[in-house]
Amino acid sequence: MSKLELIALDGPSGAGKSTTARRVAEALGWDYLDTGAMYRTVALAIQRAGLSLGDPKVAEVAGRALLEQRGTRNFLDGEDVSEAIRTPEITKFVSPMSADPAIRDVLVAQQRKLGQRGRWVVDGRDIGTVVFPDACCKVYLIATVEARASRRWRELEAKGSKLTLAEVQADLAQRDHQDSTRAVAPLRKADDAWELDNGHLNIHETVEQIVLHHRAHA
Ligand code: DC
Repeated sequence: MSKLELIALDGPSGAGKSTTARRVAEALGWDYLDTGAMYRTVALAIQRAGLSLGDPKVAEVAGRALLEQRGTRNFLDGEDVSEAIRTPEITKFVSPMSADPAIRDVLVAQQRKLGQRGRWVVDGRDIGTVVFPDACCKVYLIATVEARASRRWRELEAKGSKLTLAEVQADLAQRDHQDSTRAVAPLRKADDAWELDNGHLNIHETVEQIVLHHRAHA
């Protein structure tokens, strides 16, 4: 069976997947899909509908929401929600929400429909294991929780956040736990994924390593 021309980029929160995936896509002239943004946008739709997790109507809301990614911007029913989906409140809500199998079914179906023609770099948690197991190239991007927390803390501080490094690290550790212990499509490295620890690499080096790996295995 021929492999799908698609790079699956998975890994824990704060490993720099989105920026890396976007730049790898630019380098190859491929499209980029941020599946975390899809989960975040559904989380916003559910919050706006006033529903709590576990409500049977959440899957209906997920199915009805029109999710679009145009360049680096994300849209919900035509409204640009790029900032609204990155608030701490949504970040806290989305991890337990994404354990709901009914919501995952809706989003995985949309991701497969988009990616089936190939030439995508797709980042997420279950892309190489569940969504596109036949991707030609799978990368599992990791770094220690300390390295990820200090990077994330510096980014947040530059935006005026008052969170301490310890708080940022505790939040990442909690999300790692939730994402990797859920029953459906938990975060895990696909058996055939290449693991890249970018703890000591900058973004240019990380992108370069992935492009080289892809060329060597295409
Ligand atoms: O990558 P991110 O932080 O934007 O992802 C937001 C949440 O969505 C995160 O808690 C895990 C979840 N997620 C997922 O379960 N599966 C994916 N393919 C992408 C994200």
